[in-house]
Amino acid sequence: MRIGILGTGSLAEGLGRGWVRAGHELVIGGRSRAKADALAERLGGPTRAGTPREAATGRDAVLLAVLWEGVEDVLRSAGAADGQLAGTPLIDPTNAVEHGVGVLLPEHPGGAAGQIAAAAPGAHVVKAFHLFPADQWTRPPGNGGDNSDGNGDGDGAPGPTVAICGDDETALRITSDLVRDVGGVPAVLGPLSRARQLEEVAGFVIGLAFAGVDPASAIPHVPSRTVTA
Ligand SMILES: NC(=O)c1ccc[n+]([C@@H]2O[C@H](COP(=O)([O-])OP(=O)(O)OC[C@H]3O[C@@H](n4cnc5c(N)ncnc54)[C@H](OP(=O)(O)O)[C@@H]3O)[C@@H](O)[C@H]2O)c1
Repeated sequence: MRIGILGTGSLAEGLGRGWVRAGHELVIGGRSRAKADALAERLGGPTRAGTPREAATGRDAVLLAVLWEGVEDVLRSAGAADGQLAGTPLIDPTNAVEHGVGVLLPEHPGGAAGQIAAAAPGAHVVKAFHLFPADQWTRPPGNGGDNSDGNGDGDGAPGPTVAICGDDETALRITSDLVRDVGGVPAVLGPLSRARQLEEVAGFVIGLAFAGVDPASAIPHVPSRTVTA
């Protein structure tokens, strides 16, 4: 796939590394051209740096890997308001939360993803990749172990579930493929109106982690329900 990445920080690098490994062609666009050049150089493969507008144009998917405070700026430079992202899957991994506390900042009823969709008319926004740390996606696949789970990391265990939501079937399918490409297991929670709930989960995890509690210990083990047709 031809993927645009807006942002040049840790998540851009983590997912970028996984997607280059999977054979995708990336264009990195950030507010700093020097940082975009440096990241493209580090990622290697058919990766190049460009302007945010170039990273957003003619892509099969675009990842919005910037801090919440930079989202409006970067979408403006990408031409989102002029419809530059119309018809494009726009993956939103942002955590728009108060640092260390986890309270959501966006006042938009649809949360960060809803606000992003409003700022990028016609884009097919998918909330995804906001819960796991960037280095989750940099682990090289295949260590010579058991690959029976098919996720390529060689440990025989399924990768982390990446809950995603969005309104466009094609964008959900493309994002699901991109989740699998980095060793995750996609799970579609529902339409984009569920994004605020996914964002609150991140706020819950961040809030507990900063309070010194392992967030995983605060979630009951509920067996998954098997639905048979
Ligand atoms: N890192 C993770 O583990 C992780 C995991 C899940 C989700 N996320 C989410 O992913 C997004 C990126 O996180 P990150 O860890 O990659 O952050 P980061 O390493 O701090 O990089 C932030 C990126 O945002 C850009 N940026 C910041 N302010 C901006 C502005 N006003 N205008 C334009 N660009 C601006 C930065 O540009 P400059 O370098 O020029 O400042 C940089 O490219 C965040 O929303 C975060 O919540 C991160």
